[in-house]
Amino acid sequence: MSVACVLDETMAAAVRELRVGEDQYRYVGDTAFNLADSLRDPMSEAMAVLDDDRVVGFYRLDFAPNAVAGRPMHAPSVGLRAFVIEHDQQGRGLGTQAMVACCADLRRRHPDRALLVLTVNCNNHPAIAAYRKVGFVDTGELYQGGSAGPQHLMYFPLH
Ligand SMILES: CC(C)(COP(=O)(O)OP(=O)(O)OC[C@H]1O[C@@H](n2cnc3c(N)ncnc32)[C@H](O)[C@@H]1OP(=O)(O)O)[C@@H](O)C(=O)NCCC(=O)NCCS
Repeated sequence: MSVACVLDETMAAAVRELRVGEDQYRYVGDTAFNLADSLRDPMSEAMAVLDDDRVVGFYRLDFAPNAVAGRPMHAPSVGLRAFVIEHDQQGRGLGTQAMVACCADLRRRHPDRALLVLTVNCNNHPAIAAYRKVGFVDTGELYQGGSAGPQHLMYFPLH
């Protein structure tokens, strides 16, 4: 069972050690960099994914209105960025569970936010399948700002 929580310094050290497959870095970048970037930003929250108290993943919640899509959405939103599950823990259902936990956490701590929004590279088929499985909806809009090519813009209704 995986849970999502705002990370402390011990968890941050473990997050810096997270690795993905060689072919996955183009989609998510380096997690130690993403963590530092997130901790520097007053509009972001750095989140750890835990499985039995062990850090197995990371994501960033970005509360800036233009986060993710480069423009405000049609309802108050929060961006999901830099989501990773440790490479040797992928495919066990942890990513799906983490997203369910993320939505529950947002409803509890940020009930004003109506949408969880993300972009995902059009070639990142495992991630697209994982987001669909959780219930994310594809807007049908392509975001062209990604460094590795066009991205689908997807959202999850929190209310
Ligand atoms: C995307 C990611 C977070 C998913 O986490 P995960 O723990 O592997 O996902 P789950 O085990 O919960 O799998 C959920 C669904 O995703 C799909 N999926 C996961 N791994 C897959 C793979 N290697 N190939 C195809 N589909 C896959 C399946 O539909 C799966 O459902 P199923 O097991 O019922 O078939 C993880 O693969 C990851 O960290 N990838 C690298 C970084 C990345 O691309 N992040 C997303 C940036 S937008």
